[in-house]
Amino acid sequence: MASKKSSPAITELWPGQSVELLKALHILTRDGALNADSRRKLKQVLHLVQLLRPSLDSIFAAKEAPVLADLGAGKSYLAFILYDLVFGPNGRGEIIAIESRPELMASARALAAQSHFDRMRFVAAPIADARVEGAVDMVTALHACDTATDDAIKFALKHEAKHIALVPCCQAELSQLLSGTGSHELHQLWRHPIQRRGFASHLTNVIRGLYLEAHGYKVRVTELVGFEHSMKNELIIAERHQLSNAQARGELATLLKRLPARPALVADI
Ligand SMILES: C[S@@+](CC[C@H](N)C(=O)[O-])C[C@H]1O[C@@H](n2cnc3c(N)ncnc32)[C@H](O)[C@@H]1O
Repeated sequence: MASKKSSPAITELWPGQSVELLKALHILTRDGALNADSRRKLKQVLHLVQLLRPSLDSIFAAKEAPVLADLGAGKSYLAFILYDLVFGPNGRGEIIAIESRPELMASARALAAQSHFDRMRFVAAPIADARVEGAVDMVTALHACDTATDDAIKFALKHEAKHIALVPCCQAELSQLLSGTGSHELHQLWRHPIQRRGFASHLTNVIRGLYLEAHGYKVRVTELVGFEHSMKNELIIAERHQLSNAQARGELATLLKRLPARPALVADI
């Protein structure tokens, strides 16, 4: 499984990246080829790993055995590629994948054993219920659906993660809450369903960023890859540098006061 031979036809692969692992993840076909969908997925994940490099370097510099939790892991593409390219070669640290679908965790566990990726753990549970002992240094959540991204934020806070990387996806909670608020002074902003979805999706991520800032994180919001590759394209990177930030908390409270609805994430603000 741990073959490091790379196919000359696949220019997307990084040096040392395991072709056999990518075949087992069905990113590469048995012949070692890439189809359009998997090319997009691979490109996205590799680009994300590149963007996460400074955070990864920082956790490896700070800790002998850093722990990264990938939440809403799905088939654990990101976790496996991070192990193959970063945790494996470093020879230390652990990756915990958390995913609510047990069958995905079972097959990922089997693949990790087959690949001798000994420092990977798989937890089949909703993020909010997952029991993980001890500190987690970095949390990632790639396309964790709707409020699962908020559960990832809560998980990161509970485990005092210094670094967080979120690529939110299909945020629907606030859009639902805003429908039926037609008498509000700002309702023109979300009157039409298509605009409501876009506005609520944007607002949800604004609130998430400010919430993280209120908890002492420095937040950077950037593009993952061009929109031609994915509509789920916003990357929120956060690094904690203080316990809390009163100014950000105040700004979040002011914003929330203007709205007729608020996501459960900020129920305590
Ligand atoms: C769109 S997939 C993304 C999977 C993976 N992160 C990736 O990018 O390939 C979202 C995954 O999150 C899982 N999920 C959704 N809500 C969850 C929750 N509350 N707790 C744990 N997993 C969740 C789903 O079962 C699904 O596998």
